[in-house]
Parts: sequence; C-alpha cells; structure tokens
Amino acid sequence: MPRYDQLKAIAQEAGSLFLKGYHAPKEVRYKSDIDLVTQYDVAVEELLKARLAEAFPDHTLVGEESSATITYPEKAIYIDPIDGTTNFVHGIPFCAISIGIWEDQQPVAGCVYNPVLEELFYAEKGKGATLNGEPIRVDAEADSLPRALIATGFPYTKIEQGGDYEWVLRTMRSMLPFTRDIRRLGSAALDLCYTAKGTFAGFYEINLKPWDVAAGILIVLEAGGAVSREDGEPYTLERRIIVATNGKIHDALVAKLGEAPAT
Ligand code: IPD
Ligand code: CA
Ligand code: CA
Ligand code: CA
Repeated sequence: MPRYDQLKAIAQEAGSLFLKGYHAPKEVRYKSDIDLVTQYDVAVEELLKARLAEAFPDHTLVGEESSATITYPEKAIYIDPIDGTTNFVHGIPFCAISIGIWEDQQPVAGCVYNPVLEELFYAEKGKGATLNGEPIRVDAEADSLPRALIATGFPYTKIEQGGDYEWVLRTMRSMLPFTRDIRRLGSAALDLCYTAKGTFAGFYEINLKPWDVAAGILIVLEAGGAVSREDGEPYTLERRIIVATNGKIHDALVAKLGEAPAT
C-alpha cells in the first residue's frame, strides 16, 4: 500500500477517537501549572503506536506521552497524538495529530490531521505537499515583513526557564511593529501546515519538541518553503528555535530574530 494511504488510514482511525474526545467531557491532568494532558492524548497515542508499529516495524516510535526521553534514532517516527491540547480542552478546533517519519536525520514523510476541521496535510520527500489530496504552496505574495502574517507560539515553561519567556517577549517587541500582524493559534504542527498552504508567510517558535515539528517541516519544504534555525543554519530536531517561511521573507525574519538573540 502507498505510504500516503497507510498514514491516512492510521491518522483517520486515530482521528475518530480524537474527535470523540473533542466533543466529550475530559479528565484533565497537569504536567505543570499550565501544561495540560487528557486521557485522549494518552489513548490516541497508544492507538497510533500500535498501528504504526505494525505498518513500520523497522522504525523506533518516539511519542510525546510515552517516551520518557527524547531520542533521535536512525529510523524514527515522531508522534504527537494531540498537538494543541489546550485548544482541544477548550473546544477550539485548531488541534491535530502529527506523524513525522525521519530517516538518517532527514524527514521522509509527514502527516498532520485535524479531525475537527477534516484537514489532512501530507508530504513525502520529493513528491510535494497536499491538503486533502490537493497540492498546496507557500504564500507567493509576501516578500517583506510588513506584508507577512506571522505565526508563533509560547512555551509552557513560563517561570522556571525565564530565559525562554523573556525571549518571547523580546522578539514580540522587535517583530510586531514590522509585520502585518502576529497570530498565536496554539498548534505548532498546524502553524507549519498553515505556513505551507500560504495562510501564514512565516512561523517561529522556541522550545518545541521533535513530535511538534517532525511532520510539519517536510510539509513546508515540499510546499516550496524554507526551514532553518534562528541563525539561518540548517534545522535539526535537537534545536531550540525553528523558523519556517515562504522563502521570500526568510532572511528578513532571521535578521529580525537576530536583533533579540536567545540566551
Ligand atoms: C504545544 C503546541 C503549541 C506550542 C507548544 C507545544 P501540545 O503542543 O504545539 O502551539 O506553542 O509549545 O508544546 O503540548 O499541545 O502537544
Ligand atoms: Ca505538541
Ligand atoms: Ca501533544
Ligand atoms: Ca502536550
């Protein structure tokens, strides 16, 4: 079976459970004061892992809810069962399953599925990016920051890692006056997909984990966009800050972030 059909079937099966949870009362536990997790995060991940292990027996599965430590194996599948748990808990329909397959530290396939809005983003290396089977491309218009709608996100580590939070505030201060506007929609995987389909011209965020970005990175690249670290160097999954754009504003966004370096 082609990989697209395999991943689509797995994402849709897990998506049914996700959707049931979205509309049901939930048990919310706290990983920290503001970092939420529900029984559906755990159950969706279990289902995804069972199906992915059957379909891709050679790959190591690295999932947000079940991997005690983050590893970067040669053949890896990074799983975020619910990216945007805060939205999921509050009934905001911007949340998704993210499945990213990486080999030799390079992305080979990515699937991001939002069962609430029925949006399935998919990319395979060298084969382009699609939304519900239709090709998508990055924003061709925005060629400067004042023309660019930018997405970002905020880390859960507000107090303990003061450095990250200070960086968020510093970059906001230096960025906001020079962009069309900034959005914080609450799902990094979808922020990347919305950059790939041209809704956002760019996205940046600090302190993301491999399961947040492993699928979305390839979807941006295959839609004609660019992905790098905050200093413009090639992004690796261990990196703290990611920058993804339509390509045209990449240097300008990197330069702007350079005005407020992370400590
Ligand atoms: C979070 C979302 C959010 C981002 C956070 C992530 P989660 O993932 O992607 O947009 O700002 O940094 O941790 O916890 O909802 O899977
Ligand atoms: Ca996530
Ligand atoms: Ca998650
Ligand atoms: Ca989480």
